[in-house]
Amino acid sequence: MLNFDSSLIERLRSAQRVVVLTGAGTSSESGIPTFRDVLTGLWENFDAQQLATLDAFDADPELVWGWYEWRRALVLQCQPNPAHQAIAAMQNRVPDLRVVTQNVDDLHERAGNQGVVHLHGSLHDPRCRDCATPYTFPAGVPDEPSGGRRLTPPPCSQCAGPVRPGVVWFGESLPTDNWLQAQHLATSCDVLFSVGTSSLVYPAANLPYMAKDAGACVVQVNPQPTDLGPVLDYDLQGNAGQVLPTLVRAVWPDAQHA
Ligand code: OAD
Repeated sequence: MLNFDSSLIERLRSAQRVVVLTGAGTSSESGIPTFRDVLTGLWENFDAQQLATLDAFDADPELVWGWYEWRRALVLQCQPNPAHQAIAAMQNRVPDLRVVTQNVDDLHERAGNQGVVHLHGSLHDPRCRDCATPYTFPAGVPDEPSGGRRLTPPPCSQCAGPVRPGVVWFGESLPTDNWLQAQHLATSCDVLFSVGTSSLVYPAANLPYMAKDAGACVVQVNPQPTDLGPVLDYDLQGNAGQVLPTLVRAVWPDAQHA
C-alpha cells in the first residue's frame, strides 16, 4: 500500500504547470529494456551506449542498424503501460502538463499525451546519414528474430548514402528547439517529475536542477536512488507503473484512466 504525503497531494491538486521528465524506466514495464539492462541475443557482448554513437554506426552500420531495427520492432509490438496511462490522465487534470522525454519510443503519444518534447529523437524518424533526407519505413512491424540480427541500412533516395536511426547519439547535440523548449518548461513549472531515469546523461539530467533553482517542487519516481537525491522534495521509490496510477487516484479520486 503506497501512502503519499498530503502536502504532495495538495501541491499537485493546485499545480498549474507540471513537467514530467521521463527516461527508459518509464517504458520498462512495457517490456523495453532500459539502457543499463544487460542485453541478450546478438547484443549480449555490447552495452547500449557502445551502440549509440556515430562512430559505432560508421564502423559497423549493419550491427548498429540491426540493433535499432530490433528495438523498433520491439517497441511496435509493445503497448503503453500504466505509467504512460497515468501521465496521460494527469494531462487531462493539470491545466498545463508537458512530457519531456529521453525515450525514443512513441509510447507517451500512444497513451494519449499531446505535445511531447523529444530530447533524444525517435526510432520512427530515420534519415540519411550524409544528407539528412528523411526516410519512410515500410508500413507494419519488421519481422525481426527475437535475438536480433545484423541488417544493412537502406540507401537514401537522394544520395544513396546509408540511412541512420533518427535518435540522438552520444557526442551529438540535442535538437535545439526541443532543448530550448524543455528548459523553458522546466524553469516555469510548479512541479517537475523525474520518472524512470538514472539522471546520468546530460544535458537532460540538468532539467530537475534548473526547475529546483527556479522554485519548482521536484518529485522522483524510481525504484533505485539516483544522484538527484539532494534536490528532491519527494522521492517516490517504486515502479512507475504502480506509483503513478496510485498517485493520480490519490490526487484526483474520480480519475477514470489511471
Ligand atoms: P537508464 O537506463 O540510464 O536508467 C533507467 C532508470 O529507470 C534507472 O534509474 C532505473 O532504476 C529506472 N527504472 C527501471 N525500471 C523502472 C520502473 N519500472 N519504474 C521507474 N523507474 C524504473 O535510462 P535513461 O535515464 O533514460 O541516451 O538514460 C538516459 C539516456 O542514456 C537515454 O536516453 C539514452 C541513454 O544512453 C541516448 O541514447 C543518447
